[in-house]
Amino acid sequence: MKIIVTGGAGFIGSNFVIHMVKKYPEHEIVNLDLLTYAGNLENLTEVEKAPNYKFIRGDIADRKFVFDLFEQEKPDIIVNFAAESHVDRSITDPESFVRTNVMGTTTLLDACKEYGIKRFHQVSTDEVYGDLPLDRPDLFFTEETPLHTSSPYSSSKASADLFVMAYHRTFGIPVTISRCSNNYGPYQFPEKLIPLIISRALADEELPVYGTGENVRDWLHVSDHCVAIDLILEKGRVGEVYNIGGHNERTNLEVVKTILKALDKPESLIRFVKDRPGHDRRYAIDPTKMETELGWKPQYVFDTGMKQTIQWYLDNKEWWEHIVNGEYTKYFEKMYGERL
Ligand code: NAD
Ligand code: DAU
Repeated sequence: MKIIVTGGAGFIGSNFVIHMVKKYPEHEIVNLDLLTYAGNLENLTEVEKAPNYKFIRGDIADRKFVFDLFEQEKPDIIVNFAAESHVDRSITDPESFVRTNVMGTTTLLDACKEYGIKRFHQVSTDEVYGDLPLDRPDLFFTEETPLHTSSPYSSSKASADLFVMAYHRTFGIPVTISRCSNNYGPYQFPEKLIPLIISRALADEELPVYGTGENVRDWLHVSDHCVAIDLILEKGRVGEVYNIGGHNERTNLEVVKTILKALDKPESLIRFVKDRPGHDRRYAIDPTKMETELGWKPQYVFDTGMKQTIQWYLDNKEWWEHIVNGEYTKYFEKMYGERL
């Protein structure tokens, strides 16, 4: 089997590529990534010399490039992680989200239609369901929850999902979609909450918490997400959506305080800043379908997963330090300058 993983140099994509290259030496894993600011080949040093691994640089929204690639590689499976993934960036630059997340996905689907494919798997997000109220802990997102998006990011991901389903129904493309909750773990770009807080706390810098810090996210270790997608490729039913989450709901403030405690840093570093426009209040996944139909169960509990993740950032300072000290400083000033 030849599997093209798009966005395989990003956070979850690189964890997935490593998982697949190691677990399936008989499969060829092709990592297709544009290497935007979020793509980093250093994430893949562990597998870069593996005989069943290959990297190709390219843009999923470049039709000629994608069609030539299909012609040449003749993939059996596509797993589409490639995306603009940061909500705050989608508020300042929605168009790049439409281009990659929507047009990129339809370009890949068109190539599947032209050349044939055994499976197209779309890596989607729980954000397509919008948010849940904070005072209704009994409510969860199921696969039947209507799409109801808040940000340009989630709107672009929901649009892509609709196209994926339309290509299944209209053209018979064998698709699956997974919608996962917030991931944490190694190689997450330090613009996202957990690595941002770890890196800034270690430098004794102020920690920006949006609004009151009461918004809730449902955290899942990236390895559990990768295993879930692997299972969907193996046993998932074509045309189906699978929600992935491990019932690990925490307020943002709880997450920040957990990190401060683990690093032995004072809570006085916390700085409440202007809220994210349209900020989703609570995400919470009901993973019953993954559990009952595919037998998936997350392996990580949040506390140990977080301890290991914090340790990973301590052990791999050079990985994130050059990001934090480089171009990214300009982003931080631009993004947070008006909030503080
Ligand atoms: P990321 O931003 O870390 O990585 C995205 C990768 O896509 C990067 O390597 C980037 O270079 C690549 N890319 C961007 N535009 C491209 C293009 N036009 N062509 C080819 N490659 C391109 O993202 P992530 O956090 O690893 O998320 C991966 C996927 O999982 C996304 O589709 C996201 O919507 C979804 N998701 C993320 C989370 C999360 O918590 N991070 C949760 C659920 C779903
Ligand atoms: O739910 C899945 C989604 O999780 C994915 O689809 C997205 O790609 C991924 O980025 C993530 O989106 P969030 O917006 O939930 O993640 P982020 O890390 O940006 O923020 C998590 C929470 O922390 C959110 O409520 C906003 C808050 N936050 C974030 C940042 C960056 C802060 O309070 N301060 C910050 O500086």
